[in-house]
Amino acid sequence: MKPVHVSIVSGKGGVGKSTVSANLAVSLSRLGKKVGLIDADIYGFSIPSMMEVRMEPETVQERLQPIEKFGVKLMSSGFLRLDNQPVVMRGPMLGRVLKTFLHTVDWGELDYLLFDLPPGTGDIPLDLHDLVKDMREIVVTTPHETASEVAFRAGAMTARTGNEILGVVENMSYIQCGCCDKPLYPFGENGGKQLAESLRSRVLAQFPIERPGQEAPALGIYHEDSLIGRQYRELADDVIRLTS
Ligand SMILES: Nc1ncnc2c1ncn2[C@@H]1O[C@H](COP(=O)(O)OP(=O)(O)OP(=O)(O)O)[C@@H](O)[C@H]1O
Ligand SMILES: [Mg+2]
Repeated sequence: MKPVHVSIVSGKGGVGKSTVSANLAVSLSRLGKKVGLIDADIYGFSIPSMMEVRMEPETVQERLQPIEKFGVKLMSSGFLRLDNQPVVMRGPMLGRVLKTFLHTVDWGELDYLLFDLPPGTGDIPLDLHDLVKDMREIVVTTPHETASEVAFRAGAMTARTGNEILGVVENMSYIQCGCCDKPLYPFGENGGKQLAESLRSRVLAQFPIERPGQEAPALGIYHEDSLIGRQYRELADDVIRLTS
């Protein structure tokens, strides 16, 4: 059976797409799903460092083997460039790399294949749209209006391409005050809600500003029993519910 394809998109950079992609992938796997994650940010890959993977994939019978971490099968251009040199490619080559990741990697049987996208509406999202026809999308924003406005353009492009928007994730929504336990909203409130309304969709999650911390399994992965770890589990539950 074909896996459910889910891409994690935003208009603006640095809002948390890779964090959401990696943690959603791990949470789906914790719930027993077979999960693959393609780091489609070919130039600006961050999945290898977030998941603390420094290995080169093997090739078996001309098929690239994904690297497995926390139960998730991973492929990233970062695995192919261990010396951390910048990736220099012209537009058309990006599509070829994506095609290789999709069709030449030995994914085996998967329930979900996630795509961590670069910001914006450039070559990579368009190439991906040509390659995968049944894409579901999660749009990530911060509560800040500018981020949600720009994310709207990414979401609006999704709607035009006929892909289905699963919902909006508002990241870096609030800080849980250590003294009074009240949430503080340094970037304002309601950016995610407004974005979801304008996309005629829903807010799937609001994640606080919090680093994964010392007990975390990897630099960018939250512990499953932490507050955000539990919120990611709920997000994974929602994604399963919305896609089955
Ligand atoms: N909820 C959060 N609390 C604190 N830090 C966070 C949170 N979410 C993400 N970060 C941090 O913010 C930075 C940007 O996050 P991330 O790389 O996931 O964003 P991105 O949208 O993928 O960026 P890019 O557009 O560059 O690909 C990272 O250092 C990440 O660890
Ligand atoms: Mg990223």
